Amino acid sequence: MAGRIVCLPGDGIGPEVMAQALRVLAMLPVDLEVVELPFGGAAIDLVGDPLPADTLAACRGAAAVLLGAVGGPRWDGGAVRPEAGLLGLRRALDVYANLRPAVHGAVDLLVVRELVGGLYFGERGVRGDGTVFDTCEYHPSQVERVARRAFELARSRNLRLVSVDKANVLETSRLWRRVVTELSSDYPDVELRHALVDSFAIEVALAPETLDVVVTENMFGDILSDLASGVAGGLGLAASASLGDSGPGIFEPVHGSAPDIAGTGTANPAAMIRSLALALEHAFGRRDLADAVGRAVDDALATAPTPDQGGAATTTELGDAVLASLEHRLTTEEKTWATTPS
Ligand code: NAD
Ligand code: IPM
Ligand code: MN
Repeated sequence: MAGRIVCLPGDGIGPEVMAQALRVLAMLPVDLEVVELPFGGAAIDLVGDPLPADTLAACRGAAAVLLGAVGGPRWDGGAVRPEAGLLGLRRALDVYANLRPAVHGAVDLLVVRELVGGLYFGERGVRGDGTVFDTCEYHPSQVERVARRAFELARSRNLRLVSVDKANVLETSRLWRRVVTELSSDYPDVELRHALVDSFAIEVALAPETLDVVVTENMFGDILSDLASGVAGGLGLAASASLGDSGPGIFEPVHGSAPDIAGTGTANPAAMIRSLALALEHAFGRRDLADAVGRAVDDALATAPTPDQGGAATTTELGDAVLASLEHRLTTEEKTWATTPS
């Protein structure tokens, strides 16, 4: 397995958790080149652009993009926000399917969030009277491609899919529901249910263990995936994979730059390391390595929990524990890996 990973640490705790993921990557029996580039607020400070042309070009040519987090109060009120770089990168790579697994105890659900449409990318502006507007648009093809991905994922899991919308109010949601319903005839083996986003939020909060795959539009997916992470151990654990049809995926935690704890050395790097595991699985076809990294993270969370998990370990100490567990797994399981085709 060879290839290049572009690494974008970003802002706040982004570089802190990324450092631990890179230590893990360096231990793996893989031949991957890592190129680190400026992005987000850090890139605004350097060149005045959260997504510099060189960074974007390198991302386009990479096998995968590993991303920390962007944003922070430091850049509030500026001409351009760090978040604009993140949205621009997602759009440029057309990573329309954002997989956000929430796995913890009896909970094993997967939120599939549409990532490059809807309110985030609609027309916006200011009218003469001072009214400000954002618009939500979806083309049927945008709904179909992410829904197809969700049906396929349901097939690889427990064959249950909930499509979440607000079809009692929104035109885009009525389109969403119609397209998903039409597509369901291609997947008769998958049990499809539609749910309205407000009452569905209660289901996520109170009965998350009953859910399998959830597919929804961009903004609902943003909110529901943070909620799902909350019932599955918190933002410090939640990883994501953003995938298109071809080209590199982006692998990043669900959480942000956590300005409230940045610089304290206490951020939980588990979400970032699990995002690396998702890259190993989805970008490099190494499910074996992804599983090993995932199990090492589970071990480390049990022995060296960070404060968000009720412990007192630092970011680096949790990283140390992951490396220790992984080293053990490498020496005892290496033989199996050597014979696994990449
Ligand atoms: P946040 O996810 O950064 O933090 C929310 C809460 O969770 C905070 O209390 C934080 O300390 C905690 N938290 C988050 N990650 C943690 C970790 N790994 N370990 C321990 N605790 C953790 O959300 P926010 O505070 O609403 O946003 C802060 C900034 O991050 C904003 O500028 C926002 O736009 C940005 N943001 C970026 C991304 C991204 O880059 N993908 C995602 C979300 C938010
Ligand atoms: C996320 C973040 C981003 C989003 C922000 C920072 C633009 O909250 O990745 O969930 O809303 O998509
Ligand atoms: Mn979010």
